[in-house]
Amino acid sequence: MLKNDQLDQWDRENFFHPSTHLAQHARGESPTRIVTGGSGCHIEDRDGNRLLDAFAGLYCVNVGYGREEIADAIAAQAKELAYYHSYVGHGTEASIKLSKMILDRAPEGMSKVYFGLGGSDANETNVKLIWYYNNILGRPEKKKIISRWRGYHGSGLVTGSLTGLELFHKKFDLPLAQVIHTDAPYYFRRPDADMSEEQFTGHLVAELEALIDREGADTIAAFIGEPVLGTGGIVPPPAGYWEAVQAVLKKHDILLVADEVVTGFGRLGTMFGSDHYSIKPDLITIAKGLTSAYAPLSGSIVGDKMWKVLEQGTDENGPIGHGWTYSAHPIGAAAGIANLKLIDDLNLVQNAGEVGAHLNAAMKDALGDHPHVGDIRGDGMLCAVEFVKDRESRAFFDASEKIGPQVAAALLSEGVIGRAMPQGDILGFAPPFCLTKPEAEEVAQKTAKAVASVLG
Ligand SMILES: Cc1ncc(COP(=O)(O)O)c(C=O)c1O
Repeated sequence: MLKNDQLDQWDRENFFHPSTHLAQHARGESPTRIVTGGSGCHIEDRDGNRLLDAFAGLYCVNVGYGREEIADAIAAQAKELAYYHSYVGHGTEASIKLSKMILDRAPEGMSKVYFGLGGSDANETNVKLIWYYNNILGRPEKKKIISRWRGYHGSGLVTGSLTGLELFHKKFDLPLAQVIHTDAPYYFRRPDADMSEEQFTGHLVAELEALIDREGADTIAAFIGEPVLGTGGIVPPPAGYWEAVQAVLKKHDILLVADEVVTGFGRLGTMFGSDHYSIKPDLITIAKGLTSAYAPLSGSIVGDKMWKVLEQGTDENGPIGHGWTYSAHPIGAAAGIANLKLIDDLNLVQNAGEVGAHLNAAMKDALGDHPHVGDIRGDGMLCAVEFVKDRESRAFFDASEKIGPQVAAALLSEGVIGRAMPQGDILGFAPPFCLTKPEAEEVAQKTAKAVASVLG
């Protein structure tokens, strides 16, 4: 076995890490963590640390680590048939079965699943399907996509454009011109402290209408949003938001994409976030929780209305010119089947709702009165703590003080992984669904200790 220092050197010399300060890492100024194992909600590293992973990797290991049922399904599939493609009507038992399992769980009105590998490529697929749809309907001008500031939809070219976070645009020549952004439904950062949630929703909808008017509804094809903003800060929407937004979209014949990469398959305590917020999407993006990240697999669930037009398109133009070599990879599909079965067998959607509520309540008990905690919010197995310089005036710390990363580091030294969200001083939690109530309390208590060590 290689020694840690040897691996550490090879890592810095050879490995291009995503979302990393490349220069600091190469110079050895930031730590390398070499993860070796995991079980339930915990991971272990090569230095002998056992850590409670309260972010489930990147909110994806929803059933927890070390599930042999999924590992066995992957091994069995690899032995029987590791790969065959799904072009021109080909398929495998696993990919066909999984598409049925997904549609059995999906909200009403959905028709087919296109499989990809990750959330970014699934949203690339969605944008192409939306453009194709409007071309088939003879509306070549109706192409722009509305996304929200602080939305996260991937880091490809079009998906990095949909993502409404500065870091993902800066120096990459993004966003592309076909993508336009509207305000984030972020009640804590509302423009006027006296606004009620309903008034804030009214304000957001007026902004959306104004954007559509300025651009022209005949140039706008779709609106994309996560049911609960994730990477932008873990922000549940204000009261009435989705109902009001959908009314506007309907009026202007604008399609709705529900990006359920984080919320799909149980994170909000319902199978989909669309069920939770009465969203009726035309497309649903799925990834992470589909396989609990035991193998890469994503999907675009296409609704009936779009599907009919896609069929018409191929009658007029021949086969659809879209596909990846690894679309519907059988190993990913086998992992997906075993994962969805495990979620049912262990009642994990219900557990996510119940223990998630317990986590949010415990966090409020532990930190609700802290003078530098401005907001504690969450939904299902999602929770966030936002830090402020001054609670009364909602004044924020300067980003250079790195309060969020400092608290995350202090929490790590207590043996718990939380995530310093990329924009603002926000500590995020998205644990595996198998979290227990005592583990939820441990996360809250250790977070309070970490906050006290950084902010007093
Ligand atoms: C809502 C949402 N959509 C899309 C993505 C992109 O997924 P991936 O990183 O698998 O490309 C993410 C990733 O965090 C996400 O949270």
